[in-house]
Amino acid sequence: MDNSSPKVKGLPTRIDRYPAKMISHLAETLVEKYAKEADHLLDPFCGSGAVLRAGSTRGIRVTGIDVNPFGVLLSRVKVEGFDVERANSLYTKLIDVANDCDHLDIEWDKKDYWFTPATLSRFERLRFAASELNLHRSKAGRAILLAFGLAVRPCSRADQRSPKPFISKYARDKRSGKHFNPAKTTEALLKELSELYGGRRLTSGTVYHNDLTSINELRDESLTCSHVITSPPYVNAQDYFRNSKLELFILEGVLPFRIEDIIHRFIGTERGVDRSLLDDDGAKRRRKLVPDLTFLERGHVGQAVILHQYLRDIEAALTAIKEMLEPNGTLVLVCGDNLIGGRRIVTWQVLNRMLQNLGFMMFDTFGDRIRNRAVAPRRSGHKGMIKEEIVSAFRVQ
Ligand SMILES: C[S@@+](CC[C@H](N)C(=O)[O-])C[C@H]1O[C@@H](n2cnc3c(N)ncnc32)[C@H](O)[C@@H]1O
Repeated sequence: MDNSSPKVKGLPTRIDRYPAKMISHLAETLVEKYAKEADHLLDPFCGSGAVLRAGSTRGIRVTGIDVNPFGVLLSRVKVEGFDVERANSLYTKLIDVANDCDHLDIEWDKKDYWFTPATLSRFERLRFAASELNLHRSKAGRAILLAFGLAVRPCSRADQRSPKPFISKYARDKRSGKHFNPAKTTEALLKELSELYGGRRLTSGTVYHNDLTSINELRDESLTCSHVITSPPYVNAQDYFRNSKLELFILEGVLPFRIEDIIHRFIGTERGVDRSLLDDDGAKRRRKLVPDLTFLERGHVGQAVILHQYLRDIEAALTAIKEMLEPNGTLVLVCGDNLIGGRRIVTWQVLNRMLQNLGFMMFDTFGDRIRNRAVAPRRSGHKGMIKEEIVSAFRVQ
């Protein structure tokens, strides 16, 4: 294994856009500091794969898991690489099939809001061709699908400056009535991806599309790892589904997932909130862990339910992570805090307590100030309140 410290260059936003992504310098620092000697590094909330990339560049075997199929696609292409010639010839076939005029409709009632009819028609033809050619089955095919997914935002009416999809007045003025050509944009992006990730990877890497709170299917696949480095979702801070919705609606039916199966699975977002959580078996324990819950239940019951649900789900996820770690394995968590119902919930402290209850021992911690970062994250939902994230390193007993 080559454990020298290669400098991983930051990636351009247009090919690495992801909500709450970990910037590459932090991912590198963490791998260098805590996982240099790792046999197998897991990021169970891998998102766009910043940790996986930092690990695999050092020759470490890496595994990622995420419930967001677009994050999984980004991570897979980064980790697996692909054959550029094969991707180019598949792309030519894609265009030939797309010219046959069949469509695979996008099942989304809001699609006309985001795309002009001409752009939509081109997307739907490309979708038809991508599905006919089973692009999701090969590395080269997935690289094309990633380029296709990345082409969605620049071909939409959305404001290109915003990390979240929305149509600002500025975007309306600049972009209304404009048609975009998804094929040309996909081709240009594929070229960029080829320069970055083309060629065969030397280390082994796998990325699974899965919900960490119900991970039974993965248990058989000997996922045991020596190190975990991850930034988990916070409560109510990022709506991962909403932020990736354009890409997900365009990729549904082309990648093997259905939106209705994933939309309620994102930890920390408010969809599918279940009020019975206020009285279930774990409710008392959660109130003990986060005394603010009792306050929220009095004046902000909706927010209290969201927090209960978050705590239930994140505990299930941390328990699954523990089961995947070998004895004496290392877990590194990057997490901040946030406001719920006007109350500051110090999420990283809550998770640290939860981990200690699960049998983890903390051996190191430091703050990573957001304003010191090379690229300031523009996050939704925090109302600018997050000043730093805390890195905490644990050993499992
Ligand atoms: C803070 S982000 C991680 C970002 C990542 N470190 C990166 O650099 O892009 C948290 C991730 O958790 C994922 N997530 C949320 N709920 C999940 C679940 N139930 N199972 C697996 N992943 C989940 C989200 O899709 C998101 O990608």
